[in-house]
Amino acid sequence: MAQTTTLEPKTTLGVSMRCIACGAVQARISGGLRCSNCGDLLEIAYPDWQSGKVAGSTAAELKLLWRERRTSPMDVDQSGVWRFREVLPALASEENAITLREGNTPLYRLAHCARRAGVENLYAKHQGTNPTGSFKDTGMTVAASFARQAEFRWVACASTGNTSASMAAYGARGGMRSLVLIPEGKVSWSKLSQALDYGAVTCQLRTDFDGCMRVLNEVVQRMPVYLLNSVNPYRIEGQKTAAIELLEQFDWQVPDHLIVPGGNLGNSSALGKALLEMKQLGFITGLPKLSVIQAAGANALVRTLREKSGTELVGVTAETMATAIRIGHPASWKKAVRVIEATGGTVEQVSEIEIAQAKAEIGAEGIGCEPASAVTLAGLKKLVQRGFVKPSETVVLLLTGHVLKDPDFTVKFHRGDLFAGTKEEKEAAVLAPQQRAPIVLDATAEAVIKTLEQAEKSGRA
Ligand code: F0G
Repeated sequence: MAQTTTLEPKTTLGVSMRCIACGAVQARISGGLRCSNCGDLLEIAYPDWQSGKVAGSTAAELKLLWRERRTSPMDVDQSGVWRFREVLPALASEENAITLREGNTPLYRLAHCARRAGVENLYAKHQGTNPTGSFKDTGMTVAASFARQAEFRWVACASTGNTSASMAAYGARGGMRSLVLIPEGKVSWSKLSQALDYGAVTCQLRTDFDGCMRVLNEVVQRMPVYLLNSVNPYRIEGQKTAAIELLEQFDWQVPDHLIVPGGNLGNSSALGKALLEMKQLGFITGLPKLSVIQAAGANALVRTLREKSGTELVGVTAETMATAIRIGHPASWKKAVRVIEATGGTVEQVSEIEIAQAKAEIGAEGIGCEPASAVTLAGLKKLVQRGFVKPSETVVLLLTGHVLKDPDFTVKFHRGDLFAGTKEEKEAAVLAPQQRAPIVLDATAEAVIKTLEQAEKSGRA
């Protein structure tokens, strides 16, 4: 494998790659995708947008065009990411897009969860219905397409599972090879199985996510592999589309709150970037408050804002059963602080018990999500108690992963042994009313009918 450490940004007409800290516009980008001047993260900027028009069209014209594309037979139009391509970096040719028809995810009303949380209007935007079961696909279609256009043979990521599943799929579709670094024993089997199924070279490192990231940063400096973690600015551009699509689903009326789980903080940064850009371009007149919820055991952003007013990262040693967000040193913390402040949002942390309870409540509405997604509902309850969210306000929870991403968690929850041997074991008794353990019976109609009658009597249908 020939060695190279330079990525030519040869394919990004009309956009520039700018440092978020010193503002330097990059001519050449190193393998770690950081500013050559100060080492901070990069973001894609659109200097042409200052006129208020995009690609010669007004906001009203684009709203119409984007909707019309939903009935088009073209691959790029059927993608819920590329149909918004006027506000994304342009590929040299639309045929270069690697798409699995990502995006176009549903917005569901959550009536029971709304009552539990104490708000009237609660919705879930379910990014877990993407092709590989998580929101990562919306960013991956963009970043993988640019990787292939730049003729990379290898793409790589460190992951808590979903990024690797998504990257392996898009890499395979694009004819590239994938290198996955995951923390041994801390990634759900479903996510691991996806990376294997899609043919990735999958390395389980004896460390945590932060350790995997450290190793990968060295690998990309030494080998010609393209980094597809969310420090990659193309990932962020693709992930913006979830917020744009959400606004479209609300007919461009702005909900009061958007609540998102926080791990490495790429997603909150992307959604916030989209909201600010949509306002700048005149698609919307106000902004939803963007709030980020973390597991209390992986609360680097919460501590960064509470203890350092967002000026300096407070890293933590992360521990949570919501393994997707088991991250102690989030790479995109500065970007997340910026969008939380710009939209007037906040941060909150939730306990393991609160996550498990919220996940069961979302599941009981027939929606289902993985534990990391459920922090949003658990966090909302706290934001209502704090008075930050008012009962009459419209709230959207961003569900990031499908319920089948972590079936072990769900089965253990319902069997009642999720917290066995943990410090939460006693407290976990509060979860009993929501548990529905599978029932083993003799193979007779009588046994089943008796169970049915008991269930009917107990009111726990
Ligand atoms: N929810 C799920 C289901 C995730 O997989 C992740 C991150 C997040 C929330 C947090 O998003 O990192 O953008 O703040 N998963 C990454 C991965 C880290 O490797 O799959 P974030």
